[in-house]
Amino acid sequence: MNKKCVVSLCIALWCVTITIGPVFGSEEECDFPAIFNFGDSNSDTGGLASAFPAFLNPPYGDTFFGEPSGRFSDGRLIIDFIAESFQLPYLSAYLDSIGTSYIHGANFATSASTIRLPNRIIPGGGFSPFFLDIQYTQLVRLKSKSSSTTTRKTGKSEKRLRLTPKEEDFKKALYTFDIGQNDLGQGFFGNMSIQEVNATAPDIVNTFSNNFKNIYNISGGKSFWIHNTGPIGCLPYILENFQSAERDEVGCAKPFNEVAQYFNHVLKQAVAQLRNDFPSASITYVDVYSAKYSLFTHPEKYGFEQPLVACCGYGGKYNYSVGCGGTTTTVNGTQITVGSCRRPFVKVNWDGIHYTEAANKHVFDKISTGAFSHPPRPLKRACYNSY
Ligand SMILES: *[C@@H]1O[C@H](CO)[C@@H](O)[C@H](O)[C@H]1NC(C)=O
Ligand SMILES: *[C@@H]1O[C@H](CO)[C@@H](O)[C@H](O)[C@H]1NC(C)=O
Ligand SMILES: *[C@@H]1O[C@H](CO)[C@@H](O)[C@H](O)[C@H]1NC(C)=O
Ligand SMILES: *[C@@H]1O[C@H](CO)[C@@H](O)[C@H](O)[C@H]1NC(C)=O
Ligand SMILES: *[C@@H]1O[C@H](CO)[C@@H](O)[C@H](O)[C@H]1NC(C)=O
Repeated sequence: MNKKCVVSLCIALWCVTITIGPVFGSEEECDFPAIFNFGDSNSDTGGLASAFPAFLNPPYGDTFFGEPSGRFSDGRLIIDFIAESFQLPYLSAYLDSIGTSYIHGANFATSASTIRLPNRIIPGGGFSPFFLDIQYTQLVRLKSKSSSTTTRKTGKSEKRLRLTPKEEDFKKALYTFDIGQNDLGQGFFGNMSIQEVNATAPDIVNTFSNNFKNIYNISGGKSFWIHNTGPIGCLPYILENFQSAERDEVGCAKPFNEVAQYFNHVLKQAVAQLRNDFPSASITYVDVYSAKYSLFTHPEKYGFEQPLVACCGYGGKYNYSVGCGGTTTTVNGTQITVGSCRRPFVKVNWDGIHYTEAANKHVFDKISTGAFSHPPRPLKRACYNSY
C-alpha cells in the first residue's frame, strides 16, 4: 500500500513535469493561474478514491496513468485535457491528503456526487456524501487558507512551501462545473417514474444556481465554464437495467435522454439568468450533451466502434452484466476478473457508466473550440466577457 502511494506520487509529479511546458503568451488567450472544479465522476481526479480508498482496481487507469489514478476511466478525463490546454498540472483532489499541492487549484468533484442532498450515501447507498453544497464549503475552507505554507525538512535544511493558491488567484481562476447526472440517476434507480424524475429538474437546477451564487460571491471569480449533462440514456448502466425503455434511432434509451435534455434546457435558462445577475462575469454554458451524442450518431466518422458496449465489462448486449474489475464464473466454470477490451482507443464507453480516454479527448476537442458554447466562446477565451 505504502509503496503504491509512493509510486503514484512519483507518477503525479512526473505528469506535472511534462505538462508544465513554457507558457506561450498570447494577448488573445486567457492566462488562468488555477482551476477549481465542482462535479461528479465525469471530472473526479481522485476525490472519491481518497475518501474511500478501496474504490478502484486495475484496469482503471491502464491507458494513461498505468495504474488506477482515482479516475473512473482508462485514462484522462475532460478536466485533465482542460488543465493541459492551459499548461497547468492535473487538478489535485481536495480530499487527497497525501503530499498534495493546491497552488494551481483544486478539484472538489467526487464520483457519485449530486447537486441536491442525496437520499442514501456511501457506504449505505450509492451516492457520495460530498454533494455540491459540501463542495462549496470545501472551497470556502480552502480560500480561508490561501497562501498558507508548510515547513518541510530535508536533511538539515528547512524549506517553507506554499501549498494553497494565493488570495488573488481565486479571482483570476477558471471555475468549471460538471454535475447533475447523478441527481437524475438517483430518480431513475429510485422508485420514480420518468415523468417524476423529469419534474425534479427545476429544483435540481435551482439548487445549482444557489450554489453558483455562493461560489461566485466567496471566490470573487470572474470566469465560469458550465457543462450540461450528457446523454445518460446512451450508457450501458441505463440500457442494461431498463431493457424495455423505448430506443431511439441509434439505440439509446429515449425517455432517459429526454429527461437529460429537459434538465439541460432548464440549466441553460438558469445560466442565462446568472449572466444577467452578474454582468461583469464571464459565464459559459457548454453543450456537452451534443458533443457526446455525436459519438453515438457517427461513431465510425470519429474512429469509434460499438459505442453502446462497455469496453471493460462482461456479458449481455452491452457488456455490462458484470462490471469492470468484478469477478464472474464463465459457462465453462472458469473464474475470471473482468478486464479491459483489447482496443480501448476505439471504444466510447469504458465501464458501463463512464467514457474512455479516447472519447473524453474527442469531447474536449469539440467543446474547446466554442462550437458547443453559449455564448459561442472557446475555452481559451473563457475569461472574456465579450466574444
Ligand atoms: C419510494 O419507496 C420508499 C420505500 O421503499 C418510500 O419511502 C418512498 O416514499 C418512495 N418514494 C416515492 C417517490 O414514491
Ligand atoms: C419534462 O417536462 C417538460 C416541462 O413540463 C415537458 O415539456 C417534457 O415533455 C417532459 N419530458 C418528459 C420526458 O417527461
Ligand atoms: C458573500 O460573502 C461574504 C463573505 O465574503 C459574506 O459575508 C456575505 O454574506 C456573502 N453574501 C451573500 C449574498 O451570500
Ligand atoms: C473458458 O472460457 C474462457 C473465456 O470464456 C476461456 O478464456 C478459457 O480458455 C476457457 N477454458 C477452457 C478450459 O475451455
Ligand atoms: C467486453 O468486455 C470484455 C472484458 O470482460 C472484453 O474482452 C470484450 O472485448 C468486451 N466486448 C466489447 C464488444 O467491447
